[in-house]
Amino acid sequence: MKGGTSLLAVLLLAAGYLLHGGSSSPPPEPVICTRGGGTSNCTVTNTYGSFPDRTICRAASVAYPRTEQELLAAVASAASAKRKLKAATRHSHSLPKLACPGGRDGTIISTEWLNRTMRVDAAARLVTVESGMVLRDLIEAACAAGLSLPHSPYWRGLTIGGLLATGAHGSSLWGKGSAVHEYVVAMRIVTPAPASQGFAVVRELGADHPDLDAAKVSLGVLGVVSQVTLAMQPLFKRSVTLVKRGDGDLPAQVTAWGRLHEFGDMTWLPQEGQVLYRQDDRVDVSSPGDGLNDLLFFRSTPTRGLVAARAAEERLQENGTDAARCAAVRAGVAAAEQKAYGFTNDGASFTGYPVVGYQHRMQTFGSCIDSPEDGLRTACAWDPRVPGPFYYNSGFSVALSRAPAFAADMQRLRDLDPAAFCAGMDGRVGVLIRYVRASSACLGKAEDSVDFDLVYYRSRAAGDKPRAHADVVDEIEQMALRKYGGLPHWGKNRNSAFEGAIAKYPKAGEFLAVKEKYDPDGLFSSEWSDQVLGINGGSPSIVGKRCAIEGLCVCSDDSHCAPEQGYFCRPGKVYTEARVCSFLRAQ
Ligand SMILES: Cc1cc2nc3c(=O)[nH]c(=O)nc-3n(C[C@H](O)[C@H](O)[C@H](O)COP(=O)(O)OP(=O)(O)OC[C@H]3O[C@@H](n4cnc5c(N)ncnc54)[C@H](O)[C@@H]3O)c2cc1C
Ligand SMILES: *[C@@H]1O[C@H](CO)[C@@H](O)[C@H](O)[C@H]1NC(C)=O
Ligand SMILES: *[C@@H]1O[C@H](CO)[C@@H](O)[C@H](O)[C@H]1NC(C)=O
Ligand SMILES: *[C@@H]1O[C@H](CO)[C@@H](O)[C@H](O)[C@H]1NC(C)=O
Repeated sequence: MKGGTSLLAVLLLAAGYLLHGGSSSPPPEPVICTRGGGTSNCTVTNTYGSFPDRTICRAASVAYPRTEQELLAAVASAASAKRKLKAATRHSHSLPKLACPGGRDGTIISTEWLNRTMRVDAAARLVTVESGMVLRDLIEAACAAGLSLPHSPYWRGLTIGGLLATGAHGSSLWGKGSAVHEYVVAMRIVTPAPASQGFAVVRELGADHPDLDAAKVSLGVLGVVSQVTLAMQPLFKRSVTLVKRGDGDLPAQVTAWGRLHEFGDMTWLPQEGQVLYRQDDRVDVSSPGDGLNDLLFFRSTPTRGLVAARAAEERLQENGTDAARCAAVRAGVAAAEQKAYGFTNDGASFTGYPVVGYQHRMQTFGSCIDSPEDGLRTACAWDPRVPGPFYYNSGFSVALSRAPAFAADMQRLRDLDPAAFCAGMDGRVGVLIRYVRASSACLGKAEDSVDFDLVYYRSRAAGDKPRAHADVVDEIEQMALRKYGGLPHWGKNRNSAFEGAIAKYPKAGEFLAVKEKYDPDGLFSSEWSDQVLGINGGSPSIVGKRCAIEGLCVCSDDSHCAPEQGYFCRPGKVYTEARVCSFLRAQ
């Protein structure tokens, strides 16, 4: 295939196949135990099958409580033995090592079976669910009662407990904004306790409880959330139109767009010099339309297509030219546009914008988790059992007031070498730009912010040839985090992004005080959570050979890159204080 096959084109063809009547293997369990009938001698991983440091996380045992009583007993049993503990979820989507308990002989508490709806109060517009409930099921349960969850992340496979713990969000600058934790009005959380209280207690946090601001976004270090009550809104519909325009005014639009449209977002396609604007607003429930948002990349895809797509991408990475990579990006972008990115006006076909549909059909996507097991004939694109796409995902937010200057800097970097962006990041997916409002949550955003999300190629093994134009993403990340004081998304990113992050949270001290109260022995803490929270002076970076190639450090020495493969530690091109692995010469 001359010029290389586009990953997205392959995926699109494959997904197109499945539009009518396909099934799909759901993603695998993140917890695998080889003894005790699947309850002891365990490993835990994330949905990609690999943490950023590529190490395997071990634990002694796993518990699958089905009620709050069983959860209480599981926490008490571990706490009485002073064993480390950690909640993991059905698929554990966080890229960093959050789901890994401390040490090697801790206990994993899976929330897989804590997935019931406890109470729906349609009149008060309140829904209470157990924490392991999948976002898809939560919004369906709300809908059945005539209610809508106003905002959520875009991928429906997450659990409510997991997405809250990492501050997950959709896109909005209106009202309370897009972070789901803004809609939490009560929580029940099980924490360790002294022997006199049976080693574990349930703490009820109502809307006015002072600890709720810590518990809403907790990184899982306070205990296991048992139940969550969310404030819903009356069922509504949305009207979506996607418009592509030149990116000349991106710096101005990056703040303006979110003020204009309640659910607005933007996708910057740097190498194309274009922006895909999502013009997305609330409309009355009586507006005609039964639209569906079924984003192509998150549909079931034949395994063979995934493998072929990865092979094509590896060829392009290793042996491709900039021109070939950019041609592949262009083909992918065109193919996605031609299929309206997966939007349909009625669940079957796309007849034109606007696409009007119910909130629960428009706010999330991810049909690859909906179908029964089919023996891996098909899968979600990132299923680790398939040697298909394998990528990193960086996500960071910059204060709204500083976002225009950051966008202008990124454009300057692009203008120096637009083709570098075809390989340095996934140009087909672009930079997803979303809005998140300031929060009272201790580990939420302190200011109204713009969130930038990037996906890019990851090599299968640590020693493989580095990404082509790896310096592009490295410089953008350092610009956001260091020059513009940005915050890394707790559930995304590679280690180096978390360096110094906690110091940017004005209410971090308040959070740590609640942690000290709920879990004084740090049973729910791990090496990773301590490093991220700045406890015991640890650092999230891992410094050593090739560490910057892997995103484990920011380079300060050539050996942190891959000098033998031509990659040396050099200043950034626009943000010269950045230190990035630049390709200087083949050897
Ligand atoms: C394909 C994909 C799409 C995504 N889209 C978005 C998006 O649109 N917006 C966004 O903001 N993020 C997005 N994310 C990131 C995602 O929101 C976070 O990674 C989220 O934390 C994952 O939730 P999970 O249920 O898989 O939890 P996990 O990753 O399993 O857990 C995350 C943390 O929460 C803790 N935890 C889980 N349950 C509980 C509980 N009951 N009590 C206490 N602690 C608990 C865990 O211990 C862990 O520390 C996406 C991720 C993927 C893989
Ligand atoms: C524990 O699991 C690992 C794989 O994760 C396996 O290699 C090892 O043999 C198991 N140990 C026992 C005692 O079963
Ligand atoms: C809860 O999860 C279990 C285990 O995956 C599943 O069998 C069950 O159908 C789920 N229940 C609900 C209400 O979603
Ligand atoms: C790149 O080219 C070399 C030399 O022709 C070849 O050995 C290698 O397999 C190619 N890599 C990929 C991923 O196709």
